[in-house]
Amino acid sequence: LASIEVDLAAIKPGQAIKTSWRKQPVFIRNLMPKEIAEANAVDASSLRDPATLAERTKEGHNNWLITMGVCTHLGCVPLGAGEGEARGDFGGYFCPCHGSHYDTAARIRKGPAPLNLHVPDYAFKSDTVVQIG
Ligand code: FES
Repeated sequence: LASIEVDLAAIKPGQAIKTSWRKQPVFIRNLMPKEIAEANAVDASSLRDPATLAERTKEGHNNWLITMGVCTHLGCVPLGAGEGEARGDFGGYFCPCHGSHYDTAARIRKGPAPLNLHVPDYAFKSDTVVQIG
């Protein structure tokens, strides 16, 4: 109950999926090289909640962005993990409740949310299976 395993094999580059853990939404995204480059091009110290993509992903798996799907403003579920959903001005996730924009490392870039989307505890069990929690 405390943890879940997710098979990543079917998630294509550029695609994101929504799953749930402890009754809360979790976003799992397979970043494209361009999205990784965009995240790395930002000076992390200039951000509202400073963090690099490397700090928010696992070494050797920087393309896998795994975060809670809960806006840090008032808890809405941002868009961007579903097929064709808006991803906001920074290409990550967009919370339509009050207009928070997250980038391709799910860091808050614009709007009222105070913090980046939270990264849960997780570990790679193999190249294509992660255990969350
Ligand atoms: Fe997301 Fe307010 S809950 S912007």
